[in-house]
Amino acid sequence: MGLIQDVIATGATGLVIGGEPQPASDGATIDVLDPSTGSTIAGVSSGSTEDAIRAVDAAAAAAEGWAASTPRQRADVLQRAFEIMIERKDELAELIVLEMGKAFPEAVGEIAYAAEFFRWYSGEAVRNIGRLYDAPAGDKRIIAIHQPVGISLLVTPWNFPSAMATRKIGPAIAAGCTMVLKPASDTPLSALAIGRVMEEAGLPRGVLNVLPSRRSSEVVGAMLADPRVRKLSFTGSTEVGRILLRQAADQVINCSMELGGNSPFLVFEDADVDDAVTGAMIAKMRNGGQSCVAANRFIVHAAIADEFSAAFSAAMAGVHTGPGMEPGVELGPMINRQAQDDLHHLVDLATDAGATIEIGGAPLPRPGFFFPPTVLKGVGASDPILEHEIFGPIAPIITFETEEEAISIANDTHHGLAAYLYSGDLAKSLRVAEALESGMVGVNRGIMSDPAAPFGGVKQSGLGREGAHDGMLEFQETKYIAADW
Ligand code: SIN
Repeated sequence: MGLIQDVIATGATGLVIGGEPQPASDGATIDVLDPSTGSTIAGVSSGSTEDAIRAVDAAAAAAEGWAASTPRQRADVLQRAFEIMIERKDELAELIVLEMGKAFPEAVGEIAYAAEFFRWYSGEAVRNIGRLYDAPAGDKRIIAIHQPVGISLLVTPWNFPSAMATRKIGPAIAAGCTMVLKPASDTPLSALAIGRVMEEAGLPRGVLNVLPSRRSSEVVGAMLADPRVRKLSFTGSTEVGRILLRQAADQVINCSMELGGNSPFLVFEDADVDDAVTGAMIAKMRNGGQSCVAANRFIVHAAIADEFSAAFSAAMAGVHTGPGMEPGVELGPMINRQAQDDLHHLVDLATDAGATIEIGGAPLPRPGFFFPPTVLKGVGASDPILEHEIFGPIAPIITFETEEEAISIANDTHHGLAAYLYSGDLAKSLRVAEALESGMVGVNRGIMSDPAAPFGGVKQSGLGREGAHDGMLEFQETKYIAADW
């Protein structure tokens, strides 16, 4: 049996606790839907709070042994996991398409991105570098080492069901932590497949426990209330992030939070408009706009706004929409009916405030949860749509006259994850990049995600960084040793 059939067929024993596939203690299951048809493709066990605590037990039982493993052993497991993912990339990608809907070529891209986190952290695992330095008075030495933070709870979203899991599993393994992965209930299959990959790569039992559940708040709450859990790494909305931070406060749990975004995409009058449109298409349409770093507000200089809007609308209109496995498809369905309805509501919100629809604007009349590429013009700088994280293929365009105004519109949000700017003037680009209140800025680029780069936000977009060496430090505690010798 191939990987896809196997993961689907064994979904009813889809909790992986201490290396043992098993059903939920109360037999509950999640119906996993194909968003391109709305029909059920699998029933996956839905963990209970009792299962969640058993998963923490398993992580606790494996913790000492795993923390004592050598950096090289951890690196080898990660390198092998990278290789397996690349060998199986088509199957793993098809699983993403089945449960999440994105177009197959994008799903293959996600698997390559996901696998790269394992390769990167295979390298980082053997670079657990501490410090030894002189105290200012010169009378003693300061030693600082990095140790595993402990049992980690990884809560991942549906939009990149593989990459967001490996982005957390990779550094947790490299750091020597054991963990419980709680994937989004819309997309548990990819997480289960990654569990298989890790087993095949030689990860000892209990180091990674996988707990799909549709009772997310109960199971996550139960684990955060368990004093053995020392780390929460969460990717999801700011709204849910706030609740989890409050819950994590009770046990003073170390938190890395990758939360929502409201990314501005600035196009200055000296930009190459063709390049800006190419970048805009990537920044807006990667993953159908269902990304926390998706361009959410197009802020375009008035002198080139018509030229940019016309070229961008033409490119958006040319996007081939359909089921993700169909050849040539670039935009698959949205994740679920709610997402489709929310997008429709946002278009209404914008048009009620005076915006005009250039293209798209309403759900496609076909089975599944399709929403077409949509461009909105005449959006005012304080229109309500601009306060929302769109999470879909809708692009509102606003105009500006001066650099100060562009920066002020861009920063007028509680979020601060990603920002993009296009300009032919490098000095201006760097000046504006520094002024933008954002954890990441793409200069003349529509994508910047890279496992080797620190990914994360400022303001209400999150705490901490994933990727790079920073991502491993998030799974470690720094210990200071004051020694006399
Ligand atoms: C996200 O949308 O949550 C992550 C996107 C990325 O890693 O590029």
